[in-house]
Amino acid sequence: MILEKFYENPEILHVGTEENRCFYVPLDLQEKENARNLSGIDWKFGYFPYAEAVPEFYKKDFDEEAFGRLEVPSCWQMLGFDQKQYTNIRYPFPFDPPFVPDENPCGAYIKYFDISREEAKKEQFLYFEGVDSCFYVWINGKFAGYSQVSHSPSEFNITGKTRAGMNKLAVLVLKWCDGSYLEDQDKFRMSGIFRDVYLLFRPKEYVRDYTVTTPVHFGENRAEVEVRLDEVVGKPPVTCELWDKETLLGECPAEEGKAVFPVENPVLWNAEEPYQYTLKIKTPEEILIQKVGIRTVAVQDGVVLVNNRPVKFKGVNRHDSSPYTGAVVSRMDAMFDLRIMKEANINAIRTSHYPNAPWFPELCSEYGFYMIAETDIESHGAAAIYGGSTEGTYSYFVQEPSYKKAILDRVQRCVIRDKNQCSVIFWSLGNESGFGTNMEEAGRWVKNYDPTRLLHYESVHFQPEGHEKDESMLDVESYMYASTGKIDEYFAEPGVKKPFIQCEFIHAMGNGPGDIEDYMQQIYRYDGFCGGFVWEWCDHATYEGRAENGKEMFHYGGDAGEFPHDGNFCMDGLVFPDRRPHEGLYEWKNAIRPVRAELLDRKKGIIRLHNKLDFRNLKDYIYVRYEIKEEGTLRKEGVLEELDAAPHGFTDVTLKLPANPKAHCCLKLTYLQKTKDKLTQAGHEMGFDQFVLSGEKESKLSLQKKGEPLTLTETPEVFRMENSSLCYEFGKKEGSFLKLERDGKACITAPAEWNVYRAPTDNDRNIIHSWKEAGYDRSVVKVYACEAKARQGVITVTCDFSIAAVYIQPFLRLHAVWNVNGDGEIKVAVDAKRDTSFPFLPRFGLKFCLPQEEQEVTYLGYGPHESYCDKHQASYMDVFHTTVPQLHVDYVRPQENGSHYNCSLVRVGGMQAEGSRPFSFNASEYTIQELETKQHNYELEKCGSVIVCTDYKISGVGSNSCGPELLPQYRLDEEEFHWEMRYRFE
Ligand code: GAL
Ligand code: MG
Repeated sequence: MILEKFYENPEILHVGTEENRCFYVPLDLQEKENARNLSGIDWKFGYFPYAEAVPEFYKKDFDEEAFGRLEVPSCWQMLGFDQKQYTNIRYPFPFDPPFVPDENPCGAYIKYFDISREEAKKEQFLYFEGVDSCFYVWINGKFAGYSQVSHSPSEFNITGKTRAGMNKLAVLVLKWCDGSYLEDQDKFRMSGIFRDVYLLFRPKEYVRDYTVTTPVHFGENRAEVEVRLDEVVGKPPVTCELWDKETLLGECPAEEGKAVFPVENPVLWNAEEPYQYTLKIKTPEEILIQKVGIRTVAVQDGVVLVNNRPVKFKGVNRHDSSPYTGAVVSRMDAMFDLRIMKEANINAIRTSHYPNAPWFPELCSEYGFYMIAETDIESHGAAAIYGGSTEGTYSYFVQEPSYKKAILDRVQRCVIRDKNQCSVIFWSLGNESGFGTNMEEAGRWVKNYDPTRLLHYESVHFQPEGHEKDESMLDVESYMYASTGKIDEYFAEPGVKKPFIQCEFIHAMGNGPGDIEDYMQQIYRYDGFCGGFVWEWCDHATYEGRAENGKEMFHYGGDAGEFPHDGNFCMDGLVFPDRRPHEGLYEWKNAIRPVRAELLDRKKGIIRLHNKLDFRNLKDYIYVRYEIKEEGTLRKEGVLEELDAAPHGFTDVTLKLPANPKAHCCLKLTYLQKTKDKLTQAGHEMGFDQFVLSGEKESKLSLQKKGEPLTLTETPEVFRMENSSLCYEFGKKEGSFLKLERDGKACITAPAEWNVYRAPTDNDRNIIHSWKEAGYDRSVVKVYACEAKARQGVITVTCDFSIAAVYIQPFLRLHAVWNVNGDGEIKVAVDAKRDTSFPFLPRFGLKFCLPQEEQEVTYLGYGPHESYCDKHQASYMDVFHTTVPQLHVDYVRPQENGSHYNCSLVRVGGMQAEGSRPFSFNASEYTIQELETKQHNYELEKCGSVIVCTDYKISGVGSNSCGPELLPQYRLDEEEFHWEMRYRFE
């Protein structure tokens, strides 16, 4: 069929659609929805490679034989049509705006619906919550309209085109349109009717659009709920009622399109206590119900205030994404997300980078989340064209006159739809589209239309040279991935500035993020730093069934053979695609715990509990369970119930702490919720603090003369140490043990190795190039001198050696002294000198291969979660018992994982390791090489041994997959270091 090319004309965005309005579903006088959801499995569907190939399927007499069936809502690509494609920045089509490829896949949908005689007399509207990317609509063979803007609704008045009885709805969806240039969000590109479609039945006269505002008079403990009728069809009498639960607070006719309700002693809405009133707007045949949260938002002296109080956003960026259905997300899916977020102390969501389903902000208002509601605009790909740049082409669409209307349209669609939701604190003009006049005008429109909220846009920092920008309409200074250094600089400058916000930070890709606590310190230090939003909530992937080994297969970019793609850059969430929490979620949860404890006076046992909440007193909300443990054994426990601390205030508690504990001794305070909330249960653990009371000091590792004396023999290659039960061999060329045998049993299955490498994490994706340049992934040992002596049955081996890779000079020079006693204990002391012209080391340590059956693990260190020097917010010091398989963290793209930081003792099977100072370890059935080369977890093969790395240090993980470089304090970059360990093998 031949279409009118609205889809390549940015001046024609919508044909036959209704004006924007706030979101609601109208009710009848019994408060039942006057709506019919058309979603379901009974849609007929034909997929075509381009529009010209589509038959005239909208006609009444069209033979539908060749059409199949398709569920709506859905995304074609998840149902076997078209191709899956994940691309971040680069457009999936040539950059030639407003044109799109002629090979523009099309989905033709047919749906029959019945209308009763009663309904036929009413006004009928067809409401699409979201269609990607544009669509043409026909009713009973007649053209009813066209629309675009994938993530915003389109409403068509179809009255007069229908009749009582059966009606035919035909929808043709195109994969691309001129609007696709503005929908270049970092995501799997999906097409189709991906949100609900319904019919609305309305009387002849009704209220179409209204705005609710809630000014608060703080000194007087009074507020108003103001209702403004923005559009009324006909002249119906309108009455408004305001309800507080079951109590009618007031009732008044809307005069001159307005109704005002004074509210004495209002219960204000905030994310911690999301209290809402109910507004009813009544006309003779219809009721509109609007929940109303009374709250204000403002900036004062550079600080963001909600209800006149400073708040901190502890947020996440959330995409609508499901591994099973793509961009289709049900209310249940969303509730599932919100529940895990609440459990993780998250209080804010940026709907990156488009409006979510229209009911999503309602859920946030109901359950208590602040929202940055973002417009459906991202044109990042404009920076990635030939010769493109962030100073130039990036801002193409926000400068280009022919796209001015489209930019404003998208902004208006977002703001007007969600304007009555108290959860929305910020409007966001979009993401990564640069800055220019179109955006400025849209921004001015927002501030003028809705002065009650703040306006956000990060990409204001990018504008074409020569553009005199006006950013006065923006209320906050927004950055993504600013380093802590940059933030310090911002606040070091004198004068009052705009509040600082990180709309994206803490890039949660793979093993990480490792920089959370440093940012938290700044958020609490600077009043003007109103918080940030972790990038991002969930990994995006497509579920592809189970592999032969029974593991679930999640696919990311490139797995469908598409071009271009961005690999696993979509796997950067706090939860796995199926919402199992990543270790990173636990990190974020405890970093944003509601209480933070400070050990004020160790002797007197005075602990200060800081209330980090913005609105709730700890009283009636949180209690503390404390426990004192010595080397994993519980010595004392109890509960602190009465904590009276105002928001941002503190309270002191006193505990009797052991004066001089001999063993490793810790005090742990766990914060628990007293009563059930809407999404969380009584007793829910909200976070914890821990203080190490003793045991963090360095210990001297001695090696006693024990057991039957060892005899020393020598070959050109090895030193052999033996007694009746032991046979150890030390390699003169390897500088470590080749063989450790006790009672005829091999304790190691391969030579022990000096090791500096780790399977690169996603956050190592930049530094890995330097590491490989330095040869860390293929380094070998060169021994210069190696001597052994036996004294009183104890053998001492001294060894001078270096580590270097082929064609590269040594980066480490070492001197090691090994002692072995008759009981088989091995003590090693190493002095290392690092060539500082080399990049920092991934790790340094000794790697052992144990027999596969050695699966039991005990350690004293940071657990139970995987922990690194910069990633141990969720972990605490204790004695943990676990197994090798349980230590493995099964990242979808395999990488270094499962390390434990700050350990003083580790046992894996018969191996025991102790350090003179805390060390890190991991134990895995996968080799470093296996973890490095396999692209998916389900491809991993066990190596037949247990590989134990004991590390002097392993560098932190950071968040450099997109965030700043790993902070210097988390790098293994010292010029000289000394390391001592004691091992025993059985
Ligand atoms: C940001 C962008 C996000 C995402 C992230 C990297 O620049 O706004 O959409 O691409 O980087 O994961
Ligand atoms: Mg982008």
